[in-house]
Amino acid sequence: MTDVTNIIAIDGPPGAGKSSVGREVARQMGYQFLDTGAMYRAATWWAMHNGVDLDNPDSTAASTRAMPLEMHDESGRLKVVVDGHDISEAIRSQEVTQNIYKLDQVAEVREHLVELQRRIGAQAPTVCEGRDMGTVVFPKAKCKIYLDASLDARTLRRQKELEAKGQPIDFETLRAQIHERGEMSRTRKVAPLRPADDAVFLDTSDKTFEEVVTEIIRLARACL
Ligand code: DC
Repeated sequence: MTDVTNIIAIDGPPGAGKSSVGREVARQMGYQFLDTGAMYRAATWWAMHNGVDLDNPDSTAASTRAMPLEMHDESGRLKVVVDGHDISEAIRSQEVTQNIYKLDQVAEVREHLVELQRRIGAQAPTVCEGRDMGTVVFPKAKCKIYLDASLDARTLRRQKELEAKGQPIDFETLRAQIHERGEMSRTRKVAPLRPADDAVFLDTSDKTFEEVVTEIIRLARACL
C-alpha cells in the first residue's frame, strides 16, 4: 500500500517546468524523483523498435506489458534502459514524441504503467510528475500541485532547453506542437489532464525556476 503522506504529485501541460522543478524539489527534500512521461516515452520507443502496430491497442498494451524497463537516477540525470538499450536520449526524439498519443490513450497501457508507478512510489518518499498523478495514480496524495504557464512562456522554456541540447527549433512550430500535445492530453477520454480538485494551482509564467522550487517546498512542508 502506498504511503500517500510521502508523495508530492505534480501535474500540468508540457513545458510548465514539471520535470526540472520536480527534480530539484526532490533533490532538496531528499525524495526520489519519478518522471512518468519517460515511461510513456519508453513504451512508445519499445513498440516502435519492435515494429508493433501503434494503431492496434491490444498490440501496444501487450508490448508495454512485456517491456523490460529500468530507470535509474545517475548524478541527477534520468537513465532509461530497455532490454540493454540506453534510450535516455532516444525517448526525447521528435519521432517518439509524435507517436506517444497512440499509446497514452490506451486504457490497458495506462493500467500497466500506473501499476509500476504506484510500486515505485511505495518504495520511498517520492516527487512524481506527469498528467494524472493527482487524479488517478495517487488520488490520496496529501500534496498535489498543478503547474501551468502561458503557452508562450512554456514554448520559450522548451525552445531554450532544445537549443542548449543543440536542437534549435522555430518558435511558431514548437508553439503549435506544444499546444497540440497539451490539447490531446486534456481532451482524451482516459485519464485526461486536469487539476485534481484538491490540487494547488501554480502559474509559473512570471516566476523564476528558484521561486517555483521554493514555493513547492513551502507547500509540501505545509501539507505533508
Ligand atoms: O511529460 P512528457 O512530455 O515527457 O510526457 C510525454 C507524453 O506522455 C505526454 O505527451 C503525455 C503522456 N503522459 C501521460 O499521458 N501521462 C503521464 N502521467 C505522463 C505523460
